[in-house]
Amino acid sequence: MAEFTLPKNSKVGKGKHYPAPAGATRTRAFKIYRWNPDDNANPRVDTYDVDLDTCGPMVLDALIKIKNEIDPTLTFRRSCREGICGSCAMNIDGTNTLACTRGIDECGGKDVPIYPLPHMPVVKDLVPDLTHFYAQYASIKPWLRTQSSAPAATERLQSPEDRKKLDGLYECILCACCSTSCPSYWWNGDRYLGPAILLQAYRWIIDSRDEDTGARLDDLEDPFKLYRCHTIMNCTRTCPKGLNPAKAIGEIKKLMLQRRGA
Ligand code: SF4
Ligand code: SF4
Ligand code: FES
Repeated sequence: MAEFTLPKNSKVGKGKHYPAPAGATRTRAFKIYRWNPDDNANPRVDTYDVDLDTCGPMVLDALIKIKNEIDPTLTFRRSCREGICGSCAMNIDGTNTLACTRGIDECGGKDVPIYPLPHMPVVKDLVPDLTHFYAQYASIKPWLRTQSSAPAATERLQSPEDRKKLDGLYECILCACCSTSCPSYWWNGDRYLGPAILLQAYRWIIDSRDEDTGARLDDLEDPFKLYRCHTIMNCTRTCPKGLNPAKAIGEIKKLMLQRRGA
């Protein structure tokens, strides 16, 4: 697959301007990053003036309107349009977030700049290549690992107190907004697992039904996988689901210390 990563300070060319239809009185300019692996051209930023009186309230509504009515070549991912699938994650108005839950009127500037998630290879336009991110997710074996036989008549049960420990973790939709806002992940993402995957790892570590906690911690006891987190907190600030990956990472580090008897 062709890949393109926007280098730091790289020049993005001036793109095309698509004016709003005649008669539109309430418009907003969306400045959108464009890059096509098939045309050998440099990346550029196209400007689309959207008539807000004929557009839904969310940034995703504007993107869909642009694709349907102005420029069908614009490429982005989306599916659920209600903050559940994580596929519309992108950098909007300077913040990694979900296009379907970010209101157009929440974007403060005059224009609305939209880029793909930062520091990831780009497949096309606003679509990042998440192959490595998903491979890192698979590496933590994100399923219930047990040694005991399953109960004959019930599921593996959990007390309400133990179930509560999963709150703030199970809601993660793996959108990658946090990992792609983390400077440590930008520079060491080949080996550092990053906040999203570490939050998911912690979700299984503290699940009372899981019987492989020791092996899970052994696997994270590595100078890069876990310890590249320097508590910068960008991850927690950016999470569109209001989760706290930095806290989950801190809890894993505490468990590491506890088992070393520190
Ligand atoms: S923790 Fe939040 S930002 Fe990170 S992947 Fe999960 S939902 Fe997305
Ligand atoms: S707290 Fe850790 S994981 Fe979160 S942004 Fe900072 S370095 Fe990255
Ligand atoms: S479209 Fe599913 S989270 Fe935005």
